[in-house]
Amino acid sequence: MCEALGGKVENAPSREYGRARLQVTQRDGLFEAFPSSADVWMSHGDQVDRVSADFLPLASTSTCPFAAVRHRSLPMFGLQFHPEVTHTPQGSQLLGNFVRDLCGCAGTWQLGDFARETIARVRETVGNRRVICGLSGGVDSSVVAALLHQAIGDRLSCILVDNGLLRANERASVEHEFTKHFKTDLRIVEGETQFLERLQGVEDPQEKRRRIGHQFIECFKEAAREIPDAAFLAQGTLYPDVIESGAAPDGPAATIKLHHNVGGLPAELGFELIEPLRDLFKDEVRRLGEQLGLPPELVWRHPFPGPGLAVRCLGEVTSDKLRVLREADSIVIDEIREAGLYRSTSQAFAVLLPVRSVGVMGDARTYDQAIAIRCVDTDDFMTADWSHLPYDLLARMSTRIINEVKGINRVVYDISSKPPATIEWE
Ligand code: XMP
Repeated sequence: MCEALGGKVENAPSREYGRARLQVTQRDGLFEAFPSSADVWMSHGDQVDRVSADFLPLASTSTCPFAAVRHRSLPMFGLQFHPEVTHTPQGSQLLGNFVRDLCGCAGTWQLGDFARETIARVRETVGNRRVICGLSGGVDSSVVAALLHQAIGDRLSCILVDNGLLRANERASVEHEFTKHFKTDLRIVEGETQFLERLQGVEDPQEKRRRIGHQFIECFKEAAREIPDAAFLAQGTLYPDVIESGAAPDGPAATIKLHHNVGGLPAELGFELIEPLRDLFKDEVRRLGEQLGLPPELVWRHPFPGPGLAVRCLGEVTSDKLRVLREADSIVIDEIREAGLYRSTSQAFAVLLPVRSVGVMGDARTYDQAIAIRCVDTDDFMTADWSHLPYDLLARMSTRIINEVKGINRVVYDISSKPPATIEWE
């Protein structure tokens, strides 16, 4: 906008990634009720370098002179930082000012209406046909299943694909919760052998996702053959998945990761796709889950990626590596629960690194693998900060992993924020 109207966008003298201190010079309109100085989240290499006389600068940081601008006569506003992320703590104030005061919106959208409308829409779309829901036991697919259950009752069949890439006890706990809580038709597909065969020799993360995606389709096809009247496939795709797969309708976001659960599936499967959470963020999905009456242990379960442990087992995935990773991961989760920090941490897990390093155990020299612990705090999973966990908790995790998990002699803690890192290592 600034460039098109007579200004200039250039490579920034220093790229800004992460927190920056914003100084606000015009505190009316867009910045009404906003502090004169606040932390904001920046993520850019280019920036507006000059603006025409038609633009009024509203705020700046030490390296970004036009962190916010407005046109002097037209209804146009520009921000260089990200008001929509958790790490711009007063971002909602800004967005609120924009949509309510400047755009004149009334703010009538309610999650309760969303549930009602979505249930009605699903009923209308599905008619008297049957829906298959891929269940992983995570929040997203569980909320989808709950929504569908309310919409179409026993015309829902849930399928859990045990791809051999699930966490310790995950399959058993999903089975338990879903047959107890929902009285749904839950079918379990044994896929471990096929998935691991497909992943043999594959190191590239995107290729892993691709192959897992394809195998997933095959397992579904097979399970679906036994549900002949199924016409729809329901999935827990969220808005961040849509954006990060470059599939958002309103912009060419770079493809950061190929999420196997976005696009591509229905044509091959011959099902119509139902993605009722496609416009929601994770925090909204959790609130929706609570509204739908899901148990807290399900609503607050940390998210787990579709490709599962395959993207936490760096390099080639083998059943030996998965065993090591699963044991280490369950120690991380145990300890964080024990410390009472599971709920306040957004995601906590172990990553098996593709390196070996030297250690000493007793009198012997070891040359073993390393585990990275990844714990992050975030609301929307679009940006995240590493969790500042107490040292004694980290020490307990490390000691237990090294003592209890055969093949590990070193544990490191990941202290990178997103961006520039991502939450998962692959
Ligand atoms: P990243 O690593 O992109 O993760 O910062 C953001 C959130 O998305 C999850 N994630 C995935 N979920 N399929 C999924 O269903 C995927 O391929 C995938 N990759 C990452 C990740 O666990 C985090 O919650």
